[in-house]
Amino acid sequence: AMPLIVVAALAYLLGSVPFGIVMARVFGLGDLRAIGSGNIGATNVLRTGNKLAAFLTLVLDAAKGGAAVLIARAVLGEDAAQVAGFFAFLGHLFPVWLGFKGGKGVATFLGVLLALDWRVGLACCATWLVVALVGRISSLAALVAAASGALWALVLGRADLVVLAIALALLVYVRHATNIRRLMRGEEPRIGAGK
Ligand code: G3P
Repeated sequence: AMPLIVVAALAYLLGSVPFGIVMARVFGLGDLRAIGSGNIGATNVLRTGNKLAAFLTLVLDAAKGGAAVLIARAVLGEDAAQVAGFFAFLGHLFPVWLGFKGGKGVATFLGVLLALDWRVGLACCATWLVVALVGRISSLAALVAAASGALWALVLGRADLVVLAIALALLVYVRHATNIRRLMRGEEPRIGAGK
C-alpha cells in the first residue's frame, strides 16, 4: 500500500490549491490580496461582488479537503483519512505556491469534516449558517462553527474525531487573529459589505 507520508504529501498539495485566487483569475476579479481583508477565501471573493465566484471558491476549497479524505480512506482506511484531512487543511493554510501565506481554513475545515462524518460536517455547516444569519459576520460564524466541531463529534458519537477537530479549530483561531481583534473592537465588516 501507499505509505502514509505519500498520502500526507499529496493531501497537502491538493489542499494548497488556492481556489479563491484561481477563481479571481478565471472571473477577472483582480488581485484578491489587494481587496478587503486580503484573504484568499470565499468571504473575500464575495467582496468583489461576484457571488458565483465566491460560491465556487467555497465549494472547491471545501471539496479539496473532502477529496483528500475520501481518497485516503479508499486507499488506506480511516486513520489515513484523518491524516489526509489534516494535511489538506495545512496545505490551504500554508501553500508552498504562495510563500506559505494561505487562507484561514474555514471552507476546508468544513469539507474535511463532511467527508470524515457527514453528520458532524453538516452540524458545523448549520452552526456557521445560523451564526451568519443572525450575526451577519463571516469570521464570527467561522469561529463559532470551528469551536463547535469537537462538540458535535462528541454529541454524534464520534469521539475519535475530537482531537483532529480541536487541532483544526485551534489553527482556524490562529489564522483569525486579526479578525478576532476587529470583532472585539466592533469593527469587523458584515457579510457582503466592502471594506
Ligand atoms: O473564511 C474566512 C472568514 O472567516 C473571514 O474572512 O476575509 O473576512 O478575513 P475575511
